Amino acid sequence: MRRKRTAILISGRGSNMRALVQRARSPSYPAEIALVLSNRPDAPGLAFAKENGIATAAVDHKIYAGREEFERSMQLLLELHRIEYICLAGFLRILTPWFVGHWRGRLLNIHPALLPAYRGLDTHARALADGVKIHGCTVHFVVPAMDEGPIIAQAAVPVLDSDTTETLAARVLEQEHIIYPAALERVAGEKLRVEGNRVFCGDDAFPSAPLRVPSAEGDSG
Ligand code: GRF
Repeated sequence: MRRKRTAILISGRGSNMRALVQRARSPSYPAEIALVLSNRPDAPGLAFAKENGIATAAVDHKIYAGREEFERSMQLLLELHRIEYICLAGFLRILTPWFVGHWRGRLLNIHPALLPAYRGLDTHARALADGVKIHGCTVHFVVPAMDEGPIIAQAAVPVLDSDTTETLAARVLEQEHIIYPAALERVAGEKLRVEGNRVFCGDDAFPSAPLRVPSAEGDSG
């Protein structure tokens, strides 16, 4: 099967982008990372992409009159690079229904919580404040409503007595780096069927990582 040309949209450090780039190095992976695009020209993640020979672009949202003008510029670049799928990876701009509608079914996002719990920001601090015992991350198709859309993959992690927002975020991030490449593999490999909000992948081994309590020796998982 032809590898699908995929763009990753970032705003910052880009650790999920790195995880996707690393997995997509395998020739049998169904997606190739053809473009890394940032709305912030100084996003640290752009340097990694450049060093790895991936086309990069910065579309600085601050110089545009509005969201649609900004998105039209991104859209031109995405077309120029013949992009077929987009992964949002720490991309901190709200997208308009026009853009989301254009990419419907081909636009993925990763959210650092077990949706539909903890939509929005500060998910780890809110989970700690609520005293939940299980937290995690979600990869989903993007729809116009923020942090909604059919769920492709989730991974859960335990919340420990000793957790701070930093340690909890690190445990969740480790799972993000596993489920995002796994989810893109299923999407680009056209292995999924979507019915309403349900995504069927015909593979019971996918997608949840086992809930595992880290050992006392400081296992970061
Ligand atoms: C991740 O926690 C992701 O879930 C959220 O933004 C963060 C991005 O981190 N959407 P990185 O830039 O991928 O390291």
